[in-house]
Amino acid sequence: MMSEISIPPKLVPLTSLQQTEDDELLVRATQLQADLTQRRSVRHFSNRVVPNAIIDACLRVAVSAPSGANRQPWHFVVVQDPKIKRLIRLAAEAEEHTFYHERAPKDWLQALAPLGTDDQKPFLDEASHLIVIFAQPHGFGPDGDRLRHYYVQESVGIATGMLISVLHQTGLASLTHTPSPMNFLNTILERPPHERPFLILAVGHPASDAMVPDIERKSFHDVVTYLT
Ligand SMILES: Cc1cc2nc3c(=O)[nH]c(=O)nc-3n(C[C@H](O)[C@H](O)[C@H](O)COP(=O)(O)O)c2cc1C
Repeated sequence: MMSEISIPPKLVPLTSLQQTEDDELLVRATQLQADLTQRRSVRHFSNRVVPNAIIDACLRVAVSAPSGANRQPWHFVVVQDPKIKRLIRLAAEAEEHTFYHERAPKDWLQALAPLGTDDQKPFLDEASHLIVIFAQPHGFGPDGDRLRHYYVQESVGIATGMLISVLHQTGLASLTHTPSPMNFLNTILERPPHERPFLILAVGHPASDAMVPDIERKSFHDVVTYLT
């Protein structure tokens, strides 16, 4: 016979949202739209150091993200040490060299061409911080037993999106970087084998002469459907 474990949920009042008039909500949404739609991936950073307290505040937003069954299947490693940043850059450039010159299919290289990216990754040295995000396909319970995680990619993606947004709203630049494969990050950062590198977020102040690719977005109506 299957045993049924039923723990009654503990509920507390929601206190974080007050009833607000639609006019005010529209003002807020429009202001956020004006700011957040200016976000760009930045590949040229200045040498201005970001205090850890600012990174910390932004990460506290990321780790408050929703996650499948509230398993919070992530770990964030903050790298400021120039020696470790250099190790990451060298390993990433080695992988990217093979990618750009041997492994990448032609259509992928064509898709990347408008961005002007190549196998050189100076931003991994130059950015004030590298936040390396790991996903945990499973965790461990209090007795060390394997604990299943649910919707891991979705959960870590949402947390990362919240982090990118709060960094931008704070006034910092970031770049999502995904060298492939990324297992070297477990070795350099001494993370356990059950954690999978998800991506590297380079974070800092943009260089005063930073340039970004002139890209276009799909039209809003091509990507949004209302059924009213
Ligand atoms: C999952 C993901 C992986 C990415 N990987 C890289 C990368 O390895 N190197 C890079 O220069 N940009 C990378 N980017 C940034 C994209 O190229 C960029 O988001 C896209 O061109 C749109 O530009 P924007 O972010 O400035 O709006 C990545 C973005 C995402 C979401």
